[in-house]
Amino acid sequence: MKVFRFQQLGIDQLLPTEAPMPVSQAHEVVLRVQALSLNALDLLVIKGAINPELPLPHIPICDAAGTIAAVGSAVSTLAVGDEVTSVFIPRWREGEPTPAKTDNYYRPGLGQPGFLAEYVAVAADAVLRRPTYLSAVEAATLPIAGLTAWNALKYGHPQPGETVLVHGTGGVSLFALQLAKARGCRVAITSKDEGKLARARELGADFTFNYATQPDWVEELRTATGGLGATAVLETVGGDNLRLSLQALATRGRLVIMGLQKGTEAPLDVPMLMAKQANIIGMEVGSVADFTALNQALETTQLHPVVDQVFAANEVQAALRSLEAGSHFGKICLTF
Ligand SMILES: NC(=O)c1ccc[n+]([C@@H]2O[C@H](COP(=O)([O-])OP(=O)(O)OC[C@H]3O[C@@H](n4cnc5c(N)ncnc54)[C@H](OP(=O)(O)O)[C@@H]3O)[C@@H](O)[C@H]2O)c1
Repeated sequence: MKVFRFQQLGIDQLLPTEAPMPVSQAHEVVLRVQALSLNALDLLVIKGAINPELPLPHIPICDAAGTIAAVGSAVSTLAVGDEVTSVFIPRWREGEPTPAKTDNYYRPGLGQPGFLAEYVAVAADAVLRRPTYLSAVEAATLPIAGLTAWNALKYGHPQPGETVLVHGTGGVSLFALQLAKARGCRVAITSKDEGKLARARELGADFTFNYATQPDWVEELRTATGGLGATAVLETVGGDNLRLSLQALATRGRLVIMGLQKGTEAPLDVPMLMAKQANIIGMEVGSVADFTALNQALETTQLHPVVDQVFAANEVQAALRSLEAGSHFGKICLTF
C-alpha cells in the first residue's frame, strides 16, 4: 500500500513509498483512507514550525475520512464497512480540557503518524461514525475545521438575530458562517477578494467587507449593526488583527481566539477591553462529545461543507502549495 512520509522538513520532501498493510491490534481498527482535508497546521508540521524535534520520518495530515477495513479482536463498537472520520484530540472525550486530555503527543499528524496513507491502523476510539449524507471528501473537513467552528460558536454563543464576525474565507470561517446562519444569526465576513465575498453572500453572509480595500470596515460593521458591533468574533487571523476584532466586538461580546496566521503574539487594547467588558476566550478544536454534537447538528441541518479543490493524494505537494498560496475558498482536500 502507498504511504507518504517526509525524511526531512519541507513540502518537497513529502514523497510516496510502499509499505506493508497495517494490522489492527486488539483495540484498533484499520481505516481505508478515502479522503483527507488539509489544515494550516499540516503546513506548520511539515515545515517544523510546531515541533522542530519531530521524529522523522513522519506521515503527515491530521484529518481523514474512510471506511473500516478491519477491526481488532476487542473492538465491539465498529464493524467492517462503517464510514468514519478521524478524531483530532481523541483523549479529550468530554467535559473540560486538561493537559493530559489535550496532549499534542496523542494527536494524529502531530505527535502520532497522520493519515496520508491508503490504510492506517488507529485506536478504535480515535475514529467516529460520520454523518451519512456527506461524501468522504466533505466528511474529511469535519475533525478540525468543522469542529473548531462549532466550538467557537459554542464559546461565543451568539443568539438568533445577533451578529457573528468571521475573518476571511478559509475552512473554519466558512463553516462558522454556515453554522451561524443555521442558528438564525447574522454573519459579517471579511476577505481580501471581492469574488470570495460574493460567494460568501451566496452562502448567506449578511455583511461583507474587503479588508484589503476598505480600511474603515470596522466602522462600517458598526453602522450596519445599528452601532452594536458583533456579539461574537472568531479570531482566525491573530497578531495585530486582534485590535480590529476587539474594535468590532459588541459590549459584553465574546472574542474567541484560535488563529495564528499573523503571529503568536497580539497587542491588547486594555482600556477598550475594559470599556467593552469583553470576554476573550482561547480555544483548541474540541472534544469527542463536541464532535458528536456537531455530527448530530449536521444530520439535522444537512449542511454541506465548502470544498474548494480536490487533489489526488499523489498531488499532495501541489495541494499544500495551494493552501500556502491562500487563494482557496473553504477547504482543500485529497483523495486516494
Ligand atoms: N485553535 C484551533 O483550534 C484551530 C483550529 C483550526 C484552525 N486554527 C487556525 O485558525 C486559522 C484559520 O484556519 P483555517 O483552516 O480556516 O485556515 P485557511 O483555510 O487557510 O484560511 C485562512 C484565510 O484567512 C484569511 N485571512 C488571512 N489574513 C487575513 C486578514 N488579515 N484578515 C482577514 N482574513 C485573513 C484568508 O481569507 P481571504 O482569502 O478570504 O482573505 C485566508 O484564506 C489558522 O491560523 C489555523 O491554524 C486553529
